[in-house]
Amino acid sequence: MIKLGIIGTNWITQQFIDAIKLSDQYQLTTVYSRSMEHATEFGKHNGATEFYDDLEMFFEQGIFDTVYIASPNSLHFEQAKLAINHEKNVIVEKPAFANQKEMTLIQEELKKFPRVLYFEAARQIHTENFKALALQVSKMDQISGANFTYEKYSSRYDDVLAGKVPNVFSPKFAGGALQDLGVYTVYDAVALFGMPEEVAYYPQLIDTGVDGKGTAILQYPEFTVVLNFGKIVNSYMTSEIYGLKDTIEIDDAGEIEEVVYIDQDKTRHVIGNVDEFNPMFGEIKDFAKIINDPQDPDNQLEYERLRELSINVNKLLFNLRQDAHLKFPND
Ligand SMILES: NC(=O)c1ccc[n+]([C@@H]2O[C@H](COP(=O)([O-])OP(=O)(O)OC[C@H]3O[C@@H](n4cnc5c(N)ncnc54)[C@H](OP(=O)(O)O)[C@@H]3O)[C@@H](O)[C@H]2O)c1
Repeated sequence: MIKLGIIGTNWITQQFIDAIKLSDQYQLTTVYSRSMEHATEFGKHNGATEFYDDLEMFFEQGIFDTVYIASPNSLHFEQAKLAINHEKNVIVEKPAFANQKEMTLIQEELKKFPRVLYFEAARQIHTENFKALALQVSKMDQISGANFTYEKYSSRYDDVLAGKVPNVFSPKFAGGALQDLGVYTVYDAVALFGMPEEVAYYPQLIDTGVDGKGTAILQYPEFTVVLNFGKIVNSYMTSEIYGLKDTIEIDDAGEIEEVVYIDQDKTRHVIGNVDEFNPMFGEIKDFAKIINDPQDPDNQLEYERLRELSINVNKLLFNLRQDAHLKFPND
């Protein structure tokens, strides 16, 4: 049984805890919150037995072996570093780190503690539907391009319009559309096609100084991938991957709830429409498999693939931000 500690007590942590309850492989033991009252209330409600409002003590005394970090993006680095130094496995929410410097330092810390495992919680690439999509891409004779779209109006944009600066729209907390939703489309592209040769990002800035939405173009040797993402509009456009005469259609590049292969005769084949009830179920299963048997050769290969993917996504996010001259204070 994987003993789990958590940092961050927003709805996403609740969804993660609900997912681990479905798997029977994790036990929530320890909760950190800035408020002891909230740690205790949130933790007891979810069956935890240890509560902290001091991060050092959480890591020093907590009986957990794996921590799930779901705090604002700019805090991930210090919290993950602390976790690694206390030999706790790290599952950090996307986007793992705010810039390449932080990612490089974390990889150096991991080398010092080789038993510690590191995962980025990029939930959609662990779903059955994404795996079916990847299999279909691998079978296609030719890839001629793709469009990935993930644009959802954020209720927190209402706060921006009212003159506030919620964390997710704040440069101080490494927020913005690229970091928050664009990361899903970047994951789609890098997981399916690898790293592009050149990138460009055209952001639409909002008053808080971050990108509210934007379009990124990834240039691969033989094709182009266009990413559309945003938090200040709703898009209902499907995503597509082009073969020659065949096409894959994806309902939504972030949720991936339905994947349809349209063959050269225009016949539609549904290749992925598994409802996993909790969108984080796939990732917690995949992480548990590796954590429970890290020496297994297949698990080692998969771990390295995921780690490299996370490093590449971090690099690409950073390069896109550089291209658009979008800076965070801790860059
Ligand atoms: N995978 C997904 O589907 C998904 C969905 C949503 C978000 N996320 C990711 O999850 C992470 C958290 O996102 P969120 O929207 O939940 O963030 P958030 O609401 O700004 O903060 C998350 C938690 O961090 C703590 N926190 C908030 N402000 C803080 C501050 N100024 N200093 C220290 N701690 C603070 C709070 O916990 P306490 O009050 O208990 O300390 C809060 O519950 C982000 O990395 C985001 O990208 C992922």
